[in-house]
Amino acid sequence: MKICVLPGDGIGPEITAQAVRVLKALGLKMDMEEALLGGCAVDAAGDPYPEATRKLAQAADAVLLGAVGGPQWDDNPRELRPERGLLGIRKHLGLFANLRPAMLYPELANASTLKPEVVAGLDILIVRELTGDIYFGQPRGIEIRNGEKVGFNTMIYSETEIRRIAKVAFEAARRRSKKVCSVDKMNVLECTQLWRDVVTSIAPEYPDVELSHMLVDNAAMQLVRNPKQFDVMVTGNMFGDILSDEASMLTGSIGMLPSASLDANNKGLYEPCHGSAPDIAGKGIANPLATILSAAMMLRHTFGMDEAAQRIENAVKKVLAQGYRTGDIFESGMKKVGTREMGDAVLAAL
Ligand code: IPM
Ligand code: MG
Repeated sequence: MKICVLPGDGIGPEITAQAVRVLKALGLKMDMEEALLGGCAVDAAGDPYPEATRKLAQAADAVLLGAVGGPQWDDNPRELRPERGLLGIRKHLGLFANLRPAMLYPELANASTLKPEVVAGLDILIVRELTGDIYFGQPRGIEIRNGEKVGFNTMIYSETEIRRIAKVAFEAARRRSKKVCSVDKMNVLECTQLWRDVVTSIAPEYPDVELSHMLVDNAAMQLVRNPKQFDVMVTGNMFGDILSDEASMLTGSIGMLPSASLDANNKGLYEPCHGSAPDIAGKGIANPLATILSAAMMLRHTFGMDEAAQRIENAVKKVLAQGYRTGDIFESGMKKVGTREMGDAVLAAL
């Protein structure tokens, strides 16, 4: 098991350190090597996704990532921004399938801004296409037309790209509640008309899964109105970016949510859904649970080790039941802990 660890920027190094401790505690034979990605890589190597990192990531079976980004790089030219590193590694490794589960731990029901009865028992999986769409489409740019600047990007999907992500969603639904809701904007955008047509054409291969379609604006509304109607949602890169942030907040804290980005052979990059939180970086107070849960997803999806993954997930449930809380999920009466102490608690529970 070769794992490339990319701590990244901000709170990234603190939270990945805890996930690495948890992985080591399982006593599996793992070879872990660290490299630079994001702002730290821009500073050290002048490239957010340097050659050394490319080589290591390519050779690894899985990548564990903390987070990238920070205000000190916001004014950099686009190719020297930390986010470029993240988009670069996704594209380079062909990680087209982004799985973003949003589930509510019963212990955290009060952390959500929605009424407990709306979110209790929530368990959604957003399947976001990650290497296409307007994020990567050409042409793109800012140029002068008719004496003024115009900015433009291209939303584009091929049948092949839509088909392969739709299959990931249908397969995932088979292991869950057997419902897929495909999200598009076919009333306006041709690109997403094709999306709907292709997803519909695949449905007969999965007669046991119920397929529905929803326009993205309605989906955004339904997520806060009645989120429990959803099981698996599948959508393109940009809509998925937005809807997954929205879904994460139904659970109370984005600090709890892991993610997996997979290629066609289940090689994956695993990272928390949250960002680098520069405001609390270095303070030892960030919530490491999303990264620890990302390590669990890694064991399950890349290494097929369901039982080990379950052990980590159960340990996380246990520390929540024991009342351990980092600041982002703290409620009075609970035990407030920092990043490392939360790691300690998970290790003890393991
Ligand atoms: C995410 C992030 C990234 C994205 C940014 C940092 C490039 O928001 O992983 O959701 O837009 O994909
Ligand atoms: Mg995002």
